[in-house]
Amino acid sequence: MKKIIAIASFAAVLLASCTSKSSTATSAIGPAVSTAEQIAQGKTIFESSCTRCHKLPDPTSHNSVQWVGIMNSMAPKAKLTDEQHQWVYDYIVSVKK
Ligand code: HEC
Repeated sequence: MKKIIAIASFAAVLLASCTSKSSTATSAIGPAVSTAEQIAQGKTIFESSCTRCHKLPDPTSHNSVQWVGIMNSMAPKAKLTDEQHQWVYDYIVSVKK
């Protein structure tokens, strides 16, 4: 019985250390996490998927914070995967610099 308690408390310590680590990790959608290759793919996806319903938006027409919200509503419309969503976002932000 003592052994089980020891294992359980060890697991709790492990869990606690994992949790503190993940809180410092960068969030899923953010700037400059994609490689140049992924950004190039983002450009292709942007130019092909985002023209289906309206003309291609100008990346400089909104700031990077506004683009987070726009991409959150447009990525599902364009049926992008989470990865494609990230690449398109990073492409848009890279154009603005
Ligand atoms: C299925 C159709 C559809 C697709 C695909 C689509 N959009 Fe849109 N988009 C809309 C509609 C409808 C609006 C206007 C209404 C709205 O804001 O929801 C809009 C509005 C916008 C606006 C203006 C928002 C504002 O606040 O001024 C931007 C920028 C935009 N889309 C970007 C994109 C990007 C980038 C993509 C590709 C990832 C995309 N859209 C793909 C339908 C679409």
